[in-house]
Amino acid sequence: MQRYAAGPHGLDWASQPDPFRRFAGAGRVNLPLMADNLSTRYKDIHAPERVQVRPLNHDNISVLLELSLGISAWKQYEGSRWALRCNPSSGNLHPTETYVVCGDMEGLPGGVYHYQSFDHGLEQRCACPLPVSGGVLIGLSSIHWREAWKYGERAFRYCQHDTGHALAAIGYAAAALGWRIRLLSHWGDEQIARVLGLDRSQDYAQAEPEEPELILWVTPDGSPAAEFEALIPLVRTAKWRGRANLLTANPQHDWPVIAEVATATQKPVTPPEPNRAGDWPPLRENPCEIQAATLIRRRRSMQACDGNTAMACDAFYRLLDALLPRSDTTPWNTWPYPPRIHLLLFVHRITGLEPGLYVLIRDELAEKRLQKVLLRDEFDWRKPADCPSHLAFFRLLEGDARQASRTISCHQEIAADGAFSLGMLADFSRAIESGAWYYRRLFWEAGILGQVLYLEAEAAGIQGTGIGCYFDDAMHDLFGIRDSRWQCLYHFTVGKGVPDTRLQTLPPYGHRD
Ligand SMILES: Cc1cc2nc3c(=O)[nH]c(=O)nc-3n(C[C@H](O)[C@H](O)[C@H](O)COP(=O)(O)O)c2cc1C
Repeated sequence: MQRYAAGPHGLDWASQPDPFRRFAGAGRVNLPLMADNLSTRYKDIHAPERVQVRPLNHDNISVLLELSLGISAWKQYEGSRWALRCNPSSGNLHPTETYVVCGDMEGLPGGVYHYQSFDHGLEQRCACPLPVSGGVLIGLSSIHWREAWKYGERAFRYCQHDTGHALAAIGYAAAALGWRIRLLSHWGDEQIARVLGLDRSQDYAQAEPEEPELILWVTPDGSPAAEFEALIPLVRTAKWRGRANLLTANPQHDWPVIAEVATATQKPVTPPEPNRAGDWPPLRENPCEIQAATLIRRRRSMQACDGNTAMACDAFYRLLDALLPRSDTTPWNTWPYPPRIHLLLFVHRITGLEPGLYVLIRDELAEKRLQKVLLRDEFDWRKPADCPSHLAFFRLLEGDARQASRTISCHQEIAADGAFSLGMLADFSRAIESGAWYYRRLFWEAGILGQVLYLEAEAAGIQGTGIGCYFDDAMHDLFGIRDSRWQCLYHFTVGKGVPDTRLQTLPPYGHRD
């Protein structure tokens, strides 16, 4: 269908949601701004033996949050000012909310906290000496309305992309501290909502609800994760404080399909995922010497591309390599599920590589199946001469793909003016066989891929931009996909960004002074 999903016609600025959730009446813990003290270089994130393992304490939890979900800069233009964060978000609307669940530690009494990114602090929702030791739980939720205000029905998918980006952002920040994180894939959404207090309707009253998404175990030393069976009875009887703020006083639209999809894709408790093995040579070292904290906060979505700069072939292959789901490499070490997403690429400007359509297969077991899915007589499935042998990367068709890429990405120039762009093709039906709850995880996997692309592009001296707006049927036609069991879920572009010199950049937390 060559049309956009239903959404508001034009933006109703009067009902623009508050970008920051707050819990009035909750206890407050201020966090220091200490990320600049972290000496880890970006290249060390993939060489954990070189990263000093930081102790689990109030200050380092602060660094974890500052470098994953904290504000990275403010932008200002004429009378407007808006915050950017370490995690990207469609439309910069930031539907993802973050919670920390911890046991007693110095400066941080045990309990459940909401992370307040505006001024980098924690709001104590529940005070309780919880049996959480050797690590902390980090939970994520989505406020659908933040995205629906602008994007209507597309909001649910964008919230899921953003969750994936946020998950990977936490993974990178944890790796910079020498910590490990694990997605607790067996928890159900009901258990997450209970522990985080998202089901306390009395605390939300008229405020927009939060949908539970996921929970992570973050630990410096591999301590076993805290479990919901031990936590739920305690938080249920504990005292909670704080009332959620109303983000929009008079919403003009409602998109009932969002709540329907959310309900249909809720996850029950499931058995833990088996360990996944990846059989690839170690990821080649990244030459980037920049501090991880600097690079993470410098990450930006380019809004325009120079239409000129080529990416070196070597850097391109390294970037593709970082997208392989090695179970021991950040951020894939957080991801317990098998790879379900492969990349369909539009190569525009890679030195030594003919422009054209290409495919990167992220799971060798999928190669034969994909050969039967990407069906056009002209496709030659040729591996480029210099391509590392372990990368299942094939040229399908040589030719100028800029026009096709631009049109398919809702006519956005950035999809044509960079070094390459891509669409993420999901093995959709196979994934959903696990349960409708897997639907969200497909978008999370896409978001993780997006976050790797953002940071790796930045490390290579160029930039990326997530592209949530694309015409999937046109994409499927171009790549000869007639099998509806495969679906494109996200697009992305990488190239040399052209900064918008009209915008003034301000420091992230200057307003705290
Ligand atoms: C899921 C997703 C979809 C996006 N889609 C688009 C898009 O279609 N076009 C675009 O120019 N930017 C897109 N972006 C980039 C956002 O606009 C950008 O992340 C946001 O403005 C915040 O800026 P920052 O990434 O520089 O922090 C997307 C980002 C995400 C995470």
